[in-house]
Amino acid sequence: MNDKAILNYETVALNERERELIILDQTKLPNEIDILHLKDIHEIWKAINTLQVRGAPAIGISAAFGLYIAAMNIDVDDDDYSTFNEKLNEAAYYLNSSRPTAVNLSWALNRMLKTAEINRHKKIDEIKELLKLEALEIKREDTETCRKIGEYGLTLIKDGDGILTHCNAGQLGTSKYGTALAPIHLGREKGMNFHVFCDETRPLLQGARLSAFELLSDGTETTLICDNMASQVMKNGWINAVFVGCDRVAANGDACNKIGTSGLSILAKHYNIPFYVFCPVSTIDMNMKTGNDIKIEQRPPEEITEMWYTRRMAPEGVKVYNPAFDVSENELITAIITENGIAYPPYSESLKRISAQNSAQKGR
Ligand code: MRU
Repeated sequence: MNDKAILNYETVALNERERELIILDQTKLPNEIDILHLKDIHEIWKAINTLQVRGAPAIGISAAFGLYIAAMNIDVDDDDYSTFNEKLNEAAYYLNSSRPTAVNLSWALNRMLKTAEINRHKKIDEIKELLKLEALEIKREDTETCRKIGEYGLTLIKDGDGILTHCNAGQLGTSKYGTALAPIHLGREKGMNFHVFCDETRPLLQGARLSAFELLSDGTETTLICDNMASQVMKNGWINAVFVGCDRVAANGDACNKIGTSGLSILAKHYNIPFYVFCPVSTIDMNMKTGNDIKIEQRPPEEITEMWYTRRMAPEGVKVYNPAFDVSENELITAIITENGIAYPPYSESLKRISAQNSAQKGR
């Protein structure tokens, strides 16, 4: 396979004619490019839950397309909004249960439900069409958002810098460019060079399988390390900045991201390296006061004991703790980079300002 091609693939797309969600199966990367055609919400729920599609913005977009597909399968009289809305809410509730931590999932579903609600006096067929347009708009906005995040992020680094990243906050987790990796992709477009160190990101290896693959595709110098080597590369003086994505930011700036991120924020402080968190404004949850309130997904023990190995690598009966995310405390975060600009501490003020811009622009 020509690995250069991966950035030309769309992570998530809607096949309007066939009413199906098309995703790149991320569990098969980097060895296989497998395109999945998902026709109902059970398949879409499973794809999100098993990380065939993953990354906060990408799961939000998938859920929005999923809800449109669900709407198309609701068979009611053209003026029976009440039954239609009841079934649509059931489908949204179900899709929202596929993963608990990334706020983009409920954010996108709520946007879809609101679209139905404000058009409640229209015919059901018209509402279905508007739901399609809203889901497509969520995807379009994400691409624009990620590009802006990349532009702001690029102002924080210079040609030749060493960047440490964790998990995959790249194009594969969004519709295009990514969040934490967007500055790298945009910098490459402008002929800049960076050396990116990818934490492999146990247990699901998003760093090794996805970020390293994605970065090599645009010719970025990329070095893969095990998660426990981050301190060493920082100590060697190879890292100018840590760039990570996130799944939910609380109003006080605590940022929840892939397990292992919080440890990096502590190490970065120790070595006096800036620690940057990247996200769209839709990932900021102003209803969540602090990171302690964020629900952390727990995943199956087999991801640690068996997955990727040819034989089980832990004794039968051992207890396993497998949280998928952790929270980096706001005082360890140098800045949070969004499409509306860069938020600096105190976050309780800067995030309020940055989030309010979206509501003002969209009249929400
Ligand atoms: O479990 P995952 O792979 O969905 O976790 C993803 C992350 O933690 C990403 O950093 C985050 O969603 C941002 S993706 C642009």
